[in-house]
Amino acid sequence: MAKLSVGIIGAGGITNYHIAAYQAAGADVAAIADLDVERAKAQAAEYGIPKVFDSYQKMFDACPDIEAVSVCVPNKFHASISIDALNAGRNVFCEKPPAISAQEAIDMAAAAEENGKMLMFDFNNRARPEAQALMQYIKDGTVGTINSAQASWIRRTGIPGFGGWFTQKALSGGGPVIDLLHMIDLALYFMGTPEPEWVLAATFTDFAGNSDFKGPWGIPDVEGGIMDVETAAHAFVRFKTGQVLYCRNSWAEINKREEVSVVFQGTKAGGMIRRLFGIDGLDETAIDDCELYVQEHGKSVNRQIITDTDEKMGRERAVINFVNTILGEEEPLSNPQEAVVLMQIIDAIYQSAENGQPVQIG
Ligand SMILES: NC(=O)c1ccc[n+]([C@@H]2O[C@H](COP(=O)([O-])OP(=O)(O)OC[C@H]3O[C@@H](n4cnc5c(N)ncnc54)[C@H](O)[C@@H]3O)[C@@H](O)[C@H]2O)c1
Repeated sequence: MAKLSVGIIGAGGITNYHIAAYQAAGADVAAIADLDVERAKAQAAEYGIPKVFDSYQKMFDACPDIEAVSVCVPNKFHASISIDALNAGRNVFCEKPPAISAQEAIDMAAAAEENGKMLMFDFNNRARPEAQALMQYIKDGTVGTINSAQASWIRRTGIPGFGGWFTQKALSGGGPVIDLLHMIDLALYFMGTPEPEWVLAATFTDFAGNSDFKGPWGIPDVEGGIMDVETAAHAFVRFKTGQVLYCRNSWAEINKREEVSVVFQGTKAGGMIRRLFGIDGLDETAIDDCELYVQEHGKSVNRQIITDTDEKMGRERAVINFVNTILGEEEPLSNPQEAVVLMQIIDAIYQSAENGQPVQIG
């Protein structure tokens, strides 16, 4: 059988995970396109990708065999490029966030539906072994209904450079709420993606521009560049089902250390998935926990779930799931409607933070 032919749009940092995963899944990465063609050439040389383009439209025209694409560009372009790719008859795996507004996510879902093509998103934390382990207990009824959950991705010193696209609202859609949306997404996944009804939120901009609060990833500052996004956010979501979710997201906030976690309280069991990063924001001293809390024989029992560790935090596994979904070998780990709900909540967080009022969705 011919290998699945894949094209890559955007040759930045995250693309390395996509290419490696496609190659590991046995797909053929046939071409890569980036407006900055030198970046595309460098990744093509590193991974043995035969064709390089300075525009994705040229790639679509020149490579009719490409069946699927990864969209790995700044957030503002996720919707327009994904819709163009779907209209060009390609299946799409789009980086997170799905878009920069719920309306864009709705338009993307419609394009997937109209063209009968797959649209999936890099909600990579769903693909982590710990998340899948907990999901088994949720699916088999051990947990019951998750009444309440707390989702945190909180950093102490993690601003991704000053003045680049990450810190410009027009290009990124926002700061840590939208950049570190993974735990909000994971909580929604565990809770069964209930329909949100009310959101009350506050955002803060402390430490913006303070180099003591910059992250360690080497993303360059842009002199004179804009930083007009939040550095921290706190939000409370109430769903139509009565379930509730508390969200904490920060790039810069006086927290003890970087924490990436979802904790939940079900009607039969509680649980937690948590990574505490090393104090410098890198992995060497990271601690991973995955636990289930139950009452058994009149005792409080805390079960520690031991899984493989995935240092890549599902970033390759999520891409492999996209390939295997197209091949009909796995169920998709994400769908367009889930992306719409996530973006509705994010829109409402920003709206509530601006107005100082609860925001009703729908
Ligand atoms: N899932 C994760 O853990 C994770 C981690 C990092 C980044 N991301 C996401 O991946 C995306 C890319 O982030 P990055 O860190 O790789 O960014 P980056 O800035 O390193 O790279 C983005 C690339 O896109 C290119 N580009 C911009 N517009 C384009 C267009 N119209 N056509 C073709 N190329 C275009 C740029 O020239 C650049 O090379 C973002 O949406 C980000 O949120 C996800």
